[in-house]
Amino acid sequence: MQFFERPEGGSRAILVHVAIEGENGSDDLAEFEQLVLSADIEVIDIVTSARHFPDNRYFIGSGKLEELQQLVRAKQANLVLFNHFLTSSQERNLEKALNCAVRDRTGIILEIFAQRARTLEGRLQVELAQLRHMATRLIRGWSHLDRQSAGQAARGSPGDTQLEIDRRLIQERVNTLNRRLEKTRSARLQGQRARKRNAVPVVSLVGYTNAGKSTLFNRITRADVLVADKLFATLDPTLRRVNLPGMGTTILADTVGFIRRLPHRLVEAFRSTLEETADADLLLHVIDASASERDANIEAVESVLEEIGAGEVPVLQVYNKVDLVEAGEPHVERDADGIPVRVWVSATTGAGIDELLAAIAERLSADRARLALRLPPSAGRLRAKLYARNAVEAEHTGDDGTVELTVRMPRSDLDDLLRQERLDPAQVLVEQGGLLAATGGDSYNPDASDGDASAFAASRNDGEIHGLE
Ligand code: GTP
Repeated sequence: MQFFERPEGGSRAILVHVAIEGENGSDDLAEFEQLVLSADIEVIDIVTSARHFPDNRYFIGSGKLEELQQLVRAKQANLVLFNHFLTSSQERNLEKALNCAVRDRTGIILEIFAQRARTLEGRLQVELAQLRHMATRLIRGWSHLDRQSAGQAARGSPGDTQLEIDRRLIQERVNTLNRRLEKTRSARLQGQRARKRNAVPVVSLVGYTNAGKSTLFNRITRADVLVADKLFATLDPTLRRVNLPGMGTTILADTVGFIRRLPHRLVEAFRSTLEETADADLLLHVIDASASERDANIEAVESVLEEIGAGEVPVLQVYNKVDLVEAGEPHVERDADGIPVRVWVSATTGAGIDELLAAIAERLSADRARLALRLPPSAGRLRAKLYARNAVEAEHTGDDGTVELTVRMPRSDLDDLLRQERLDPAQVLVEQGGLLAATGGDSYNPDASDGDASAFAASRNDGEIHGLE
């Protein structure tokens, strides 16, 4: 969509990177080049320079501008990409001087995100951000209206009128987008509530762009023969229901890729989707183990996570592309407590994926408590929900129809379920010295679903404390 005339951008680009003192190093340039290449734009040359501060009119100095003009002509470039945030007048002045499309960092990143947005909500969000970016560039004197108005200034301001039309068109589109976004958002929230209601754990994939999130997402969801993703697939194609061995139903969510210096406008645009990340039970931080910038990329992702309020969510690092790492072998690294913290895998070959799935299940259950419950016969729905999420470790039905259950799950999730079923925890949870007590060990057969009376009897006799471990 183009409301006003600017030189058409092409795919033969010259990159411009200015080292501004204390601001941006060569890492940034390497990242920018990668981003541009991944957008299928050919980089035909790179112009670098260093300045204490940007030039007001052209960002670069007059000498560099001349060099750039010659280069654009000689190499027949049709796009000049600045690895910087340009003001609208700098962008306009540059386009005039170079007679060629100029985009700044925000503009190009928005274009890349637009190409990659996978969900309807994502596409709407990017388009909105693009429009807002464009609106800041929609100023008098930078389009066909400029040429019209040149000789007509004395007869009023037709340029302004055209500008007003452009502005109104943009505003109308913004309004439409906002309305559509509101709809997709409420559908998403509905899905979120349903997941909460059923206390289904959510695992979110995060990571630096190109780390292999989508490949891993596909690998995991394909590997799962029990995938039955009807419930959430319609809301968002990047959410899949998977059955993890030993975990039961879990939602796996793919997210947008992160980059360094993520333009603020984009963080704003994606805030609502990114906030879902903060709501996840576990983050899989997917890392390209073979990337030369690996550690800097990890830091970049961690700082975005902080920014979106997901700094406290438990993280399992996934060192992906182990096939590209010399002498790399898929394996699991654990912390001093034996908890898995890092898994080395290859999403393309599938090496290490089983270990990863086991590690996810282990991490998700690490915060699960073993709890003993006594349910009245009328609480069949709660019993079904507990089974649906694979939380039941043992069950015994008494003569009076009372169901005694041992479950393993986060206490807060159980509280949520009890609230939904309007059951009083004090009536249902068996406290110390009560009728039931869970064992401290793993002596229950997880498959035992019916009448495992001996297990309950044993636990009752040793008077063990049940509940939070
Ligand atoms: P964004 O959408 O930009 O955030 O990227 P992403 O993290 O979803 O990465 P994606 O899955 O698109 O993978 C990026 C590239 O890495 C693709 O070319 C993949 O084929 C490749 N890739 C992913 N996983 C592996 C792996 O384990 N080994 C190798 N050799 N390549 C991989």
